[in-house]
Amino acid sequence: MRKADPWETFPVVQAQLAQGGAFLLAPAGDGRVNPMTIGWGLLGTVWYRQVFLVLVRPSRYSHGLIEKSGAFAVSVPRPGEMGEELEFCGTRSGREVDKVAELGLELLPGRAGPVPLMAGCELHYECRVVGRTSLAPRDVLSPEIADKNYSKGDLHTLFVGEILAAWRQ
Ligand SMILES: Cc1cc2nc3c(=O)[nH]c(=O)nc-3n(C[C@H](O)[C@H](O)[C@H](O)COP(=O)(O)O)c2cc1C
Repeated sequence: MRKADPWETFPVVQAQLAQGGAFLLAPAGDGRVNPMTIGWGLLGTVWYRQVFLVLVRPSRYSHGLIEKSGAFAVSVPRPGEMGEELEFCGTRSGREVDKVAELGLELLPGRAGPVPLMAGCELHYECRVVGRTSLAPRDVLSPEIADKNYSKGDLHTLFVGEILAAWRQ
């Protein structure tokens, strides 16, 4: 793995989030990790820091894991790759199944943070949570967006992850 400049990876990440998704990895205790598929996220600058902001619904197992650990990683596959794994990690919960064991996923140790990374992906971001905010219904100003995404509540928490290191594999 070699170091990557987060800004140079921006178009690749945004395209992959929109098309296939990426893996959000959170520590699940006892050295285990829980991968969850995400389609929404932002690379940007907040508080003079390079950040990866992810949106996680409170119902996700990953939500509590990120709250507890204050850390997460994002691993981004190459376009068109790892479709089966993205599907599984985006429809099954770590509460019911150890996704890493079930899929036989290979992990790489985190280098800058405590969270392992998903082997076989093109890009990796190791993040430390430096801020978070939970959306309330009044924060969603467009009724169309509210109807489409929040008819059952479960409004996202926005976790702001300071990028400790970004890697290209
Ligand atoms: C393509 C795709 C993108 C997704 N994006 C998100 C997302 O950005 N935020 C979120 O909370 N859930 C998202 N999900 C749903 C979670 O991945 C799914 O509920 C998963 O089973 C949660 O796993 P967990 O309970 O182990 O955390 C997405 C699912 C798919 C298939």
